[in-house]
Amino acid sequence: MKKIAIIATLFLLMGAVVIGCKDKRSPGTVYMPDMAYSRGYETYAPRDSTIFTLNPNNAGHKIFYNNQSPAGTIKRGELFPFNVPNDSNGLINLSALVKNPLAPLNRKELEEAGRLFNINCAVCHGAKAEANGPLAAKIGGVKSIIATSPTYSDGRIFFVLEYGQLNMGSYASQLSREQRWRIVQYIRTLEPRIDSTVTVTPSVATKTIN
Ligand code: HEC
Repeated sequence: MKKIAIIATLFLLMGAVVIGCKDKRSPGTVYMPDMAYSRGYETYAPRDSTIFTLNPNNAGHKIFYNNQSPAGTIKRGELFPFNVPNDSNGLINLSALVKNPLAPLNRKELEEAGRLFNINCAVCHGAKAEANGPLAAKIGGVKSIIATSPTYSDGRIFFVLEYGQLNMGSYASQLSREQRWRIVQYIRTLEPRIDSTVTVTPSVATKTIN
């Protein structure tokens, strides 16, 4: 009697295994459905257009979901966006109203800013920002940054880094806002000293970065 029970159980188990393997793509009889079929919204899953809509006017009938963060959202720790429009009024007048949000850089931060300048800008503008980088002639000439920057506000230099200028592209996707504001401060250290009694006083950063 005991033997028959054991043999019967074995057959039942084998039967269950065989049924479970019938179709490789089907999980068979699902014991815990929430584990087999996720109820969460899967990344990159196709959006079911009978449930979701990309048109905010349809919200209410369907779920409005466009994967975007709400307008005006700022990443934690990120600086405020540069809201000056990309036109001549923005360049000449409005940019000057935006102050550099960073405190003066310390020696280490200035070195880092110099490193970023040498990587991103020196290829055209040269390490001293005088328009003599190796690429300058190849793209039909660049402008010396320090020839004009002493008369420019920080915001105006940032404007150029945000939107680019003629043959120079925007740096908004390559450098974070903080990195760009740091580069603006670094450019200030390259500008010629106005005080003529100070002879050769290279800045901290130009001494260490070459
Ligand atoms: C591909 C070469 C190239 C690179 C790289 C480049 N620039 Fe420029 N930059 C130019 C050109 C060309 C102009 C001049 C546009 C013009 O004639 O008005 C310019 C203009 C500028 C100006 C405005 C000068 C003025 O008098 O209006 C600033 C400021 C400036 N660049 C800063 C930078 C900084 C900072 C970087 C690095 C983040 C950088 N550039 C990277 C090519 C470059």
